[in-house]
Amino acid sequence: MAKTTKASPKKIGILTGGGDCPGLNAVIRAAAKSAMNLGWKVYGIKNAFGGMRKLSTFKLLRPADIRGIVNRGGTILGTSNRVNPFFVADRHGVTHNESQKVLDNFRKKDLDAVICIGGDGTLRIAHRFYELGMPVVGVPKTIDNDLFATVITFGYDTAVSVATDAIDKLHPTAESHQRAMVVEVMGRYAGWIALNSGVAGGADVILIPEIPFDMDKICTKVKQRDREGAGFSIIVAAEGATEKGADMLTKGPKEAGREVRLGGIGEHIAREIQARTGKETRSLVLGHLQRGGYPTTFDRLLGTRFGTAAVRLIQNGEFGKMVALDPPRIKAVPIKRAVSKMKAVPLSSDVIEAARAIGISFGD
Ligand code: F6P
Repeated sequence: MAKTTKASPKKIGILTGGGDCPGLNAVIRAAAKSAMNLGWKVYGIKNAFGGMRKLSTFKLLRPADIRGIVNRGGTILGTSNRVNPFFVADRHGVTHNESQKVLDNFRKKDLDAVICIGGDGTLRIAHRFYELGMPVVGVPKTIDNDLFATVITFGYDTAVSVATDAIDKLHPTAESHQRAMVVEVMGRYAGWIALNSGVAGGADVILIPEIPFDMDKICTKVKQRDREGAGFSIIVAAEGATEKGADMLTKGPKEAGREVRLGGIGEHIAREIQARTGKETRSLVLGHLQRGGYPTTFDRLLGTRFGTAAVRLIQNGEFGKMVALDPPRIKAVPIKRAVSKMKAVPLSSDVIEAARAIGISFGD
């Protein structure tokens, strides 16, 4: 398929893929508004690349469709982390390549480009379509903040705020009952949410995937706090945190083409603390609450900067690239490079250093 050569006014599509994330609507609004202000036509494509296989999912956006959404969670375009058009499983579990349907619809709608807002999974699919000749530009999204090519992604700040707020709310009940409380937060392979909410919320133990933990070290910290008269402890664990020598805890079998579902580490730690120390312990999982609600000021602003920058990339014909934050500017990086590795919390992080300096244990 030939890359775009058409003169303005252009016609572009926008889609959101992967797990939803606070700030998606701010990106959609900013991209659509700035494109409309250039006189372009903007199609919202429902339900990610899977949706793009059907022509009925393309909807011409009007200004009214994007009005009043800068502060709304979720995505007005719908999203999915279930369907990869290159591997569509039928009911017998046999996979088919349906990417041609996506390319055909792109051509039938006579689009000049597609803005793909998503995490590494969606961006990988976007890059494959780019290689097949579809002009795409990417906008990075993940509450886990684990995309290495951008200093930060929108949605992460909101998720950390939700987690910090939860830790704040756990303190009085933990203290009143003199309990240990374990809160499991999101973060599959990177512990950014656990680390930063744990430090900001005043946790006593923080467990992240980057630092395998030892149960005895956690119990030592809990007992130490009891001895010192605190009487309660707050433990924040990323869902991807692991005990030394053990694997991540998962929920159910892995489905083809999808990430395995994580979960259970918080409950496991709570059970072990109670069994080993005799201290009454409770656990809770924050789960998808971290993806809901109003995006923070930071996420709305970053979403707006990313959305408008994506339109600039199209104007400049910079396809196959993703917008990224490299303070103080927004830059463009090849999508291929952006998805080539993930961004874990560096063990040399000054936040880890600060946490250790104020007595927070990492269970190591
Ligand atoms: O990647 C973001 C994330 O929120 C992970 O932290 C979490 O493991 C996953 O999505 C949950 O996805 P789902 O919505 O499919 O349960």
